[in-house]
Amino acid sequence: MDWKNRPVVVTGGASFIGSHLVDALVQRGAMVWVVDDLSSGRLENLEDSLKQGRIEFIQADLREPGIAERIMKGKAVVFHLAADHGGRGYVDLHQADCVGNLLLDSLVFRACHTGKVEKVVYASSGCVYPNHLQNDPEQDLYLKEEMVGPPYDADNLYGWAKLMAEMTLQAFYRDYGMKSANCRYFTVYGPRGVENHAVIAMIARAFLEQDPFVVWGTGEQIRNWTYVSDIVRGTILAAERIDDGAAVNLGTMERVRVLDAAQEVLRYTKRRTRIQTRPEMPTGPYNRVADNSLARKLLDWEPEVKFRDGLHRTIDWYFSTKKVEEVRREFEAKLTGR
Ligand SMILES: NC(=O)c1ccc[n+]([C@@H]2O[C@H](COP(=O)([O-])OP(=O)(O)OC[C@H]3O[C@@H](n4cnc5c(N)ncnc54)[C@H](O)[C@@H]3O)[C@@H](O)[C@H]2O)c1
Repeated sequence: MDWKNRPVVVTGGASFIGSHLVDALVQRGAMVWVVDDLSSGRLENLEDSLKQGRIEFIQADLREPGIAERIMKGKAVVFHLAADHGGRGYVDLHQADCVGNLLLDSLVFRACHTGKVEKVVYASSGCVYPNHLQNDPEQDLYLKEEMVGPPYDADNLYGWAKLMAEMTLQAFYRDYGMKSANCRYFTVYGPRGVENHAVIAMIARAFLEQDPFVVWGTGEQIRNWTYVSDIVRGTILAAERIDDGAAVNLGTMERVRVLDAAQEVLRYTKRRTRIQTRPEMPTGPYNRVADNSLARKLLDWEPEVKFRDGLHRTIDWYFSTKKVEEVRREFEAKLTGR
């Protein structure tokens, strides 16, 4: 697909992932409208694109009457990333807020339909997978797209809202022919990431020289952290190649134990502290790793960044841009906030 001068919208484009997506679309020559209420997004994430005068930024709450209709009308592609969302501490402890995404997503999708948008790409999540499958870290489990099915058992109301959004887009394709793609992101990390997510929280703890170094859960939980540039490339490929609302995993198949990630953070930052696990804190499932063979087949996509390399890059970014006093002031609140 030629992106040059194509009118596209990125909702939630001031976020961590959203802002990287905006940069990539600008690089491909698209005309990008960003809409974000800045409830968790930050304008400074868009500094480069704004400076170049290559995007139109609209600060607005997409749930306000008329806003979504006005912005979506006549656009070629809408990337819908706006969401009430945070890390594990947030999605476990703020379910009434997260379920507001049902309304937000409905309004955005309906506005895309009435505004004759050609394609909607949705930022879904590994949280749509049944929790009951993901309890045993010893099991060599890779989550395949078709494992989302009866009995549904999504991860918190956040996960249920993501699942309902996927189903809504599939219904809009069946009933109205509105094209769409659902990208299931798995635990994304990289520069501009926020401390409410595990990798950035670990880096922040090392930055603050925390002693003992706290890890939520037993540390035995397995994740497949996926670098943000891989997520962005997969999202754009999904816009180019999927029409029928199919859901596709965007995640690496590298199985990383939380304790090993923590130890690598400590080694790379040359900290010699004791790790203290906190099993009573929000932890999430103990075994969450994607199978990405469908993305390989449909999108010719595979992750390029190995966890160790991406982790080192992210640590370098964090240590060179953050100020100790500011991080210290906000850190505890950020762990369960947005
Ligand atoms: N970070 C991850 O690991 C991950 C994993 C799976 C899915 N996702 C999804 O990817 C998307 C981006 O997540 P992120 O981690 O980059 O940051 P995020 O959750 O902060 O992004 C959400 C963005 O939407 C904006 N927003 C929220 N409500 C809005 C509203 N009513 N109107 C307009 N803007 C609104 C926020 O200000 C923010 O910029 C989200 O949809 C999230 O659910 C993220």
